[in-house]
Amino acid sequence: MGVLERYRSWMDLPAHTEMLSLSEGDTPLIELPRLAEALGGGFTLYSKYEGMNPTGSFKDRGMAVAVGEAKGRGAKAVICASTGNTAGSAAAYAARAGMKAIVLIPEGKVAAGKLAGAVAYGAQVIQIEGSFDQALELVVEISERQPIALVNSLNPYRLEGQKTAAFEICEALGGAPDVLCLPVGNAGNITAYWMGFRQYDKLQGSGLPILLGVQAEGAAPLVLGRRVEDPETVATAIRIGKPARGEQALQAAEESGGRIIAASDEEILTMQKRLAGEGVWVEPASAAGLAGLAKEIQAGRLDVRGKRVVAVCTGHGLKDPDVVTSWMRTPQVIAPTLAALEALMVKC
Ligand code: F0G
Repeated sequence: MGVLERYRSWMDLPAHTEMLSLSEGDTPLIELPRLAEALGGGFTLYSKYEGMNPTGSFKDRGMAVAVGEAKGRGAKAVICASTGNTAGSAAAYAARAGMKAIVLIPEGKVAAGKLAGAVAYGAQVIQIEGSFDQALELVVEISERQPIALVNSLNPYRLEGQKTAAFEICEALGGAPDVLCLPVGNAGNITAYWMGFRQYDKLQGSGLPILLGVQAEGAAPLVLGRRVEDPETVATAIRIGKPARGEQALQAAEESGGRIIAASDEEILTMQKRLAGEGVWVEPASAAGLAGLAKEIQAGRLDVRGKRVVAVCTGHGLKDPDVVTSWMRTPQVIAPTLAALEALMVKC
């Protein structure tokens, strides 16, 4: 069952929206006791592992809804700008709906697994000699001139779909967590989570979390308070200098009593390794939320004792293997003999 089947009555959608699903959503909430202990202990930490969605990222929730709406109103094609995950997701859902997908990506800045996905699902992939922000400006303009549906998170139906992750967390925990940390790029996801938590609280009295949004230091317009012309970070998914939903994200963080902060590439990659060390491999951007959480706890700016903290891990590690293969040593090569293998074995 996908997000439309499960939560359509809680979404604000036009009646023409078609049911579309690749069984997205219903992702696991994985407890991380070792990481919680390493961060000082005394609290419960969970990863909402969105990498388990059909195309390996949280984008599938919103894309099922946005493409379903576009299909229902008779659009033949969808278009988006993307750092990679939106592209793969748009391509998959367009394929599912029998529509064409056109995706614009910044040249040379999209992880291999994401580009391959978009190609595999049959999208028309266009690289632009420029940034994500420039690509977004172009797709907004072209969608105003041509009958092509824009499926970036400026599209309100994307947020309707993405807010379902907040519902799932509340259902799993029997209420809202105390703190939710997550990476922030174009700022659609943090905006959608806040919508979802507020709606669930109104309906069920579940309470509200403090939101901790985390950008990468080299791409932190919401922390700096100005557009970043040349954003740069190893977390290419959030390499964004002018977030489309920046204002709403700042407002959501403030209303929740939280904030948007930045984490360095080193902090992000260190957290990616620590997470993988507890069995959860995510792409770099997906570790940013936890990297920011660790920073705030260590600096004494966030007291999590006795609390429930959920870190949204937005995308699967398989999407960006280059980050790991670039620092790993080539695995050892041995002769195919028992003797050679035995010589290597250390007694446990
Ligand atoms: N994490 C991952 C893995 C992402 O791909 C993105 C955004 C984010 C976090 C940030 O979410 O933009 O809603 O604040 N990726 C977009 C894309 C920009 O094109 O795939 P956001």
